[in-house]
Amino acid sequence: MMHQHALRVLLGVGGGIAAYKSVDLVRRLKERGCEVRVVMTKAATGFVTPLTFQAVSGHPVRTTLLDPAAEAGMDHIELARWAERLLIAPATADLMARLAAGIADDLLTTLALATEAKLTLAPAMNQVMWRHPATQANLETLRGRGACILGPGEGQQACGEVGPGRMLEPLEIAEALRASAARPLAGVPVLLTAGPTREPLDPVRFLGNRSSGRMGYALAEALTELGAEVALVTGPTALPPPGVSELIRVESALEMHAAVMARAAGCGIFVGTAAVADYRPVAPARSKIKKDAEELTLGLVRNPDILAEVAALSPAPFSVGFAAETDHVIEYARGKLEKKRLSMIAANHVGGERGGFERAENALTVLWDGGSRALPMMSKAQLARELAALIADRYKEHHAAST
Ligand code: C5P
Repeated sequence: MMHQHALRVLLGVGGGIAAYKSVDLVRRLKERGCEVRVVMTKAATGFVTPLTFQAVSGHPVRTTLLDPAAEAGMDHIELARWAERLLIAPATADLMARLAAGIADDLLTTLALATEAKLTLAPAMNQVMWRHPATQANLETLRGRGACILGPGEGQQACGEVGPGRMLEPLEIAEALRASAARPLAGVPVLLTAGPTREPLDPVRFLGNRSSGRMGYALAEALTELGAEVALVTGPTALPPPGVSELIRVESALEMHAAVMARAAGCGIFVGTAAVADYRPVAPARSKIKKDAEELTLGLVRNPDILAEVAALSPAPFSVGFAAETDHVIEYARGKLEKKRLSMIAANHVGGERGGFERAENALTVLWDGGSRALPMMSKAQLARELAALIADRYKEHHAAST
């Protein structure tokens, strides 16, 4: 499915011989309903003239940041806001290094910092440069920030060598971009919980946990990219607010429960990524507890299981849970899937060296009735995109079966 409107693609052309293929790329993107504006690096203009890109894109091409005439039209900040995708093809080793370092020393790299559009790179370079640890480290940095990397392909290179580093063919790039722009969840209301909860002990203290909220926020953004109308109910986190339809801030499990139950009936998908405290202090003290006693015993009561309650609604939304386990991960997750009557569960291994809380990376095993998929260790941003796509697939099947 395409966007209802033309997908606005800002094409950044880097200085490599593959730049000549990007002329065809503009045509392929336009054939697929995209509106394309082109920005070239100075080096790129050594390979192809701006006039060529102007002719195929139908718009003036920009090459410098400090061009008063161009800035009088759509200035670079407007251009950054206009873009829904920033596609850089060819992405040279130098461009990737500048992007990874956050350097903004020309128009294209400045736009890359100033835009919130998703970044897609089609690298092209000599195979030794591609394999260089510096390039590979930059690649990982960019991927970790959520950039999508297309290619490079292997084969004969312009420099006469053979190996990885060829830019993908324009058709493949255009197809991949279009596929990433599909919005399978267009208009679907999604309710998502994220972050930790704080269970008050007295006015200044609480019982909390180590959830950073990163996975939930990344998933909220990934689902939004797929077109969903996301309402995010979040416990306290240190993260910048993600771009969602509605953001509801709560502290305790009871507050989270109330916020969710008030909205659950109307949602198509519910995702519980929050680390909800299982217990709360029986009765939080009204004033600060003094350190008079040698020993203090806390009385705790069970909190409602928000996810189980939502999944038990009739009709229930497509309900997705998370299971963080230190051992027997799959077995426990499968048990939870059945016990809480979930549509899907994402299990991850916590504790030890890899993955889980307070980390930028994670790996998940996703289970549903009759199937499973392992998502290997990757950045939470990337993992969120894969999981969101899987949720969309399963939701659509589930939806088709129930209507
Ligand atoms: O049973 P367990 O707490 O391990 O289940 C974890 C899943 O249930 C997560 O998706 C979490 O968001 C959700 N949950 C909840 N309310 C609770 C406890 C867990 O929604 N009180």
